[in-house]
Amino acid sequence: MPAPSILFVCLGNICRSPLAEGIYRHLTIRTSEKPVIASAGIGNWHIGNPPDRRSIKVAASHGIDISRQRARQVKAEDFRLFDFILAMDQSNLVRLETLRPENATARLQLFADFALGTNQDVPDPYYGDLADFEDVYSMLFSGCNAVVSRFA
Ligand code: 4NP
Repeated sequence: MPAPSILFVCLGNICRSPLAEGIYRHLTIRTSEKPVIASAGIGNWHIGNPPDRRSIKVAASHGIDISRQRARQVKAEDFRLFDFILAMDQSNLVRLETLRPENATARLQLFADFALGTNQDVPDPYYGDLADFEDVYSMLFSGCNAVVSRFA
């Protein structure tokens, strides 16, 4: 089964979900059928902005360039375009459920639940330091790796 198309969602679309997008793209780049991969935010504060410099830095330290990604907000069409919409935390998931249109086809789930079978949030690192971003990277890498292995 080919790797699923996934929209990764967090609050601002500058810290967690752009990292998830970059990691998942990196891990699926050599698969024959390229899944649609994107990330988006619940909020509109950072639309058009590049990822947080700390996310860019941590990704770059692992050989992944996310600097050209730009933040956008979740939109109704997303619920038909992707196989899965994965929320970084429980509050993102609750917000996504309220945005979900009647005709949605995408499956909505917590990232860690789908990827790792755990009910953990990917913690918001925005007010943290680089070590918090590194922890987020580790969790996202483990999860994305598990997804890719499952569909390989
Ligand atoms: P993210 O982190 O949801 O992982 O992108 C945040 C980024 C910005 C804000 C909150 C969380 N903010 O309040 O601007």
